[in-house]
Amino acid sequence: MSSATVGLLAFCLSCTSWAALTLRRNIILSTSSSSSISSSSLASLQSSNLLLAAVEKLTKELESNPSHHCFDASLWARIEGLPRKLPAHGIGGLKALSILEPIVLGGRARLDDPGFFAHMDPPANIESVAASLWQVGTNQNLLHPDVAPSARLLQKIVIKWLAEFFSCDGGHFTSGSTVANLTAIWAAREVKKIKRVVASKNSHNSVKKAADILGLDFVAVNDISADCSTLDLSDACLVLTAGTTSSGEIEPLERFGSAWVHCDAAWNGPMRLSRKHGMRLDGIEDCDSVVFSCHKWLFQPKGCGVVLWKNSEKAEEKIAYGAGYLATPTVGVGGSQPATVVPLLCTLLAWGQDGVAERIDRGVENARNLARLVSSDSRFELWTGNGGRGEEGVVLWRRRDVGMENDRDIAGRVRDRMKEEGAFVSLSGGGAKGWWFRSVAANDHIDVDYFWEAVVRAAAAV
Ligand SMILES: Cc1ncc(COP(=O)(O)O)c(C=O)c1O
Repeated sequence: MSSATVGLLAFCLSCTSWAALTLRRNIILSTSSSSSISSSSLASLQSSNLLLAAVEKLTKELESNPSHHCFDASLWARIEGLPRKLPAHGIGGLKALSILEPIVLGGRARLDDPGFFAHMDPPANIESVAASLWQVGTNQNLLHPDVAPSARLLQKIVIKWLAEFFSCDGGHFTSGSTVANLTAIWAAREVKKIKRVVASKNSHNSVKKAADILGLDFVAVNDISADCSTLDLSDACLVLTAGTTSSGEIEPLERFGSAWVHCDAAWNGPMRLSRKHGMRLDGIEDCDSVVFSCHKWLFQPKGCGVVLWKNSEKAEEKIAYGAGYLATPTVGVGGSQPATVVPLLCTLLAWGQDGVAERIDRGVENARNLARLVSSDSRFELWTGNGGRGEEGVVLWRRRDVGMENDRDIAGRVRDRMKEEGAFVSLSGGGAKGWWFRSVAANDHIDVDYFWEAVVRAAAAV
């Protein structure tokens, strides 16, 4: 994370909070004789101190230089050193934070490392981190207007902003695309009485999981275009993936005569906001439902996904459940729902569509650059199937000189060596597909040249 962004967090949180804290401390001291400071004032002073300590430790960690060795033996020892049983007596917040600092912060995966070209998990952008403090600090619950009066209205606004890019007219937040897929397929079952879920064999496991939960048959096809043209899908929910998990392939976004067409755009959905690449998702505007994970390519903290509907009234009335304790029925799978809209809204206001697009375009460019570097070195091989060559922000590649194709152990050893040099990749595949390194452009701090130098150093060693 750049020092500028950390500076923003420090400024937003520390300066204003310090000012408020100092002011409050002065008021307390000026209005009280030293012997009569009220216990409630002291308590609030203590909570401010605790929050500021947490922010200070976090900013220090985010500013620290990457170490590449995320989880060393001393961390295991610290975790082992935690009490075996729930302690009978507490030690207080400050001491608890001090014990947890080296474990939670020191033991984190450095998603923001310039060499972290791996999973679909971005480092959360600093605006969302700052606003998350407000979200969790106020503990708003989208379940009921009494416990989230403004956040529920904000949800409506942000969903409307996002829905327009997909020609949808509404939707709601979920904890991620797994739950969003389940919600969408559930609505398909209720609205269209579908009997089957048809998806490609490369669809995410949450699609089959949803079919199983909902008691629907699951049919996996090899090739969406070829197979769906010959199938009768009039009783099916067709699930098309915009950005398959393993290679980032965007499947043909067509209806194929299905009763309901759903797009799982968990990864590539936000690409629709890019003027340069948004047309890659053409056809998505005809889908009955679309989902994506804001905690992937919208850089949000975990737990933020959306499901969007072409016709929200029709879809949501079938999956809405009222209860005596609720002012309005809950829609979808969730009950209590954190107001993850708050950090997302802060990000979208701070960046605008241009800022989101700029980061997505940069991600595609970084992935393309990696693909070029792989292709230009005979020791490496670039994936030749669908996706995986950078255009969707995902690169599949491997060493061809060490026999990692079908050997998980060799692939793992090569990957570990690269990690020691500072290049993080995830491992994907197995079976007929063989083993591949998978690099996903979720980290806006990636330095492709730095990453590649580490890969080359590791290649010289293994
Ligand atoms: C295509 C696809 N769908 C669904 C999911 C599940 O998303 P989440 O982790 O947000 O539940 C993923 C996760 O990687 C994915 O790649």
